[in-house]
Amino acid sequence: MLTITELTAGYGPITALRGVTLTAEQGRITAVLGANGAGKTTLLRTISGLHRSTSGSVTLDGSTVTRVPAEKMPALGMSHVPEGRGVITELTVEENLRLGGLARGRVKADDLTRIYSLFPPLDERRHVAAATLSGGERQMLVIGRALMARPTLLLLDEPSLGLAPRIVTQIFELLKGLVDNEGLTVLLVEQNARSALSVADHGIVLNLGQVVADDSAATLAADDQLRHAYLGF
Ligand SMILES: Nc1ncnc2c1ncn2[C@@H]1O[C@H](COP(=O)(O)OP(=O)(O)O)[C@@H](O)[C@H]1O
Ligand SMILES: [Mg+2]
Repeated sequence: MLTITELTAGYGPITALRGVTLTAEQGRITAVLGANGAGKTTLLRTISGLHRSTSGSVTLDGSTVTRVPAEKMPALGMSHVPEGRGVITELTVEENLRLGGLARGRVKADDLTRIYSLFPPLDERRHVAAATLSGGERQMLVIGRALMARPTLLLLDEPSLGLAPRIVTQIFELLKGLVDNEGLTVLLVEQNARSALSVADHGIVLNLGQVVADDSAATLAADDQLRHAYLGF
């Protein structure tokens, strides 16, 4: 379980997060929603140690990880999939996956087997350069690479961006399976609120760096006023 308390962060004079408090329950998908500029990416980057908070705390499974540098997070069970689907295009699919395992310290053959069974398109293409993958396959690769570190918490930044609805559904169904079958905790940042709420258990809505709603996904999806004001559907 991830607990964030009164987290504040910014960029020089710009305050991007203003006292954000939220919980991501173990074995659940918690969606973080909000318009462009709401602070979603800053939130994930601050949780994973890529950006420094100005105040507040982050706790993972009971341990405070507020000031832990990003490169130490995988060993503590936290994997961050940043926005943009960055892979090393010159390396093969398998080499990219191995880098994810190294983030945890070692690469196990079992872990590769598991990722290939979760993502059959990656299995077929394991020895081709990542440059040749489609957008959906690249998204699978960055998620697979994060899972190679055997995280308890997965942070995902806008995985659906630019993907066809059919592929988005496929990726979200897979996440749901990991959460239900393996107890993975997922914090899913999305501008695509409708799709995110269809797979999430719980949702948080950010506006200008503040939490303006925190409720079950079903309650948020049924709130017309909230949908029109902040969720764009
Ligand atoms: N590197 C940066 N330097 C200065 N301001 C930034 C930087 N990154 C984000 N911001 C600002 O912080 C706020 C939150 O941005 P961001 O976390 O990227 O929001 P979101 O992911 O919800 O679109 C915005 O006002 C944005 O302009
Ligand atoms: Mg963002």
